[in-house]
Amino acid sequence: MNEPATVRANDFFAPVKARGAEIEDRYRALTPRSQALFERAKTVFPGGYTRDSIVRAPHPTFMATGDGAIMTDADGREIVDFWFNASSLPLGHADPRVSEAVAARARAGSAFYAPTEGELTLAEIICDRLASADRIRLTNSGSEAVMIAVRLARARTGRDVVVKCEGSYHGSYDDAQWSVSPDPKSFGDADAPTPVPDSGGLPSGAGRIRVVPYNDAGALRRTVAADGSDIAAVLIEPMANRIGLILPSTEYLVAAREACDACGAILIFDEVIAFRLGYNGAQGTVGVTPDATTLGKVIGGGFPVGAVAGRADVMATSEPGMAGRVTHAGTFNANPVTVAAGAATMEALSPEVFAAINGEGARIRARLHEICDGLPIRITGAGSLFKINATDVDITDYRGAITVDTRWEELVSLELFADGFMVTPHLHGCISTATTEEHVEGFLDAFTRIVRA
Ligand SMILES: Cc1ncc(COP(=O)(O)O)c(C=O)c1O
Repeated sequence: MNEPATVRANDFFAPVKARGAEIEDRYRALTPRSQALFERAKTVFPGGYTRDSIVRAPHPTFMATGDGAIMTDADGREIVDFWFNASSLPLGHADPRVSEAVAARARAGSAFYAPTEGELTLAEIICDRLASADRIRLTNSGSEAVMIAVRLARARTGRDVVVKCEGSYHGSYDDAQWSVSPDPKSFGDADAPTPVPDSGGLPSGAGRIRVVPYNDAGALRRTVAADGSDIAAVLIEPMANRIGLILPSTEYLVAAREACDACGAILIFDEVIAFRLGYNGAQGTVGVTPDATTLGKVIGGGFPVGAVAGRADVMATSEPGMAGRVTHAGTFNANPVTVAAGAATMEALSPEVFAAINGEGARIRARLHEICDGLPIRITGAGSLFKINATDVDITDYRGAITVDTRWEELVSLELFADGFMVTPHLHGCISTATTEEHVEGFLDAFTRIVRA
């Protein structure tokens, strides 16, 4: 009788995990100054952190400088970056076009209690590229963009309920931080997941939050058929970051569009990360147009940013003078330095540049597939992004994604770091225009040595 696949997978993951203490010691030996800075951080930040997404055991690597695809850490080691601040730097670190735009803007004044022409430039670029964007509002983060998008949907529809997908991360906003990484003990039925708060301190989600499985057109149709008259918004990532940077099926996105049209809910695509997929965003590649889109990351060129863009009638809900309008102030909305960096980045991201980084992304994923042939590892991702998953299960939703061996992924990430390459602790990666073939080959060689040891 053949051995069950999971037993074979556990055998494969065991040797790296057995060397866990040794791998962590190697990391510590390479990062003594980061360790010291982390001890200092603990005296001012709770647990040493002021940003949860960068938590890494045994301690984070503090960075000193970045240039192109290379970062230099606090201990003076050069690391090839394969995550670029969560994919937000498509041109790499300190790109001269961006740095010059930022320096010029900072010298000419960095913030005013008034608009500047630069914000029009960035807004026009985005509205030209995104099919769903007639009007746009700029925010300081993707989280804020999601918050305002949900408010616009509620104001437009006069309804309360937000439908979001199990496993989708939409930032740190009360009505989106549900079932982001729920525990199997509490996540309920696969077809109709129980909304599970992803943070302490959230108000009850009763009457406001409905959770559906990602990528399941039937479940979404059933939810809308049952509760459509209460639903203000359906919030979907057209590439699911925390589920392995996977794309949903086109059928699913078409079903979401039809379901929203049928019940009058606002379809929001959260493209905070997915906008990196192409010149016209993820919606341009799948050909499904939402009513509103949330953006962040690349549109700020490395500076704090977010945006909500949408059809004129949806966005009109925030127009000064409208009765019952959605108000949206913000000392740093459309900050002149941010919009200068964002416009310089977006201008550099031509269709040809997208084709080049996406082609290289596809090549990296194909090489990783080859390297992992016959191993209990799945390679996912799209465009210029990839994710290495320690599982022999094909991933199409959150429940598939959590079959990964997280300890193995974390240790492999530390090994790659020790060899001079940075991906996330769970092996998400991406490239930038500054990534060279030599960087990629070095990374693939290091990964091969680990998995084929
Ligand atoms: C899809 C998605 N939405 C929203 C956010 C939140 O954006 P920010 O971190 O800028 O608040 C993120 C961040 O990773 C994201 O990936």
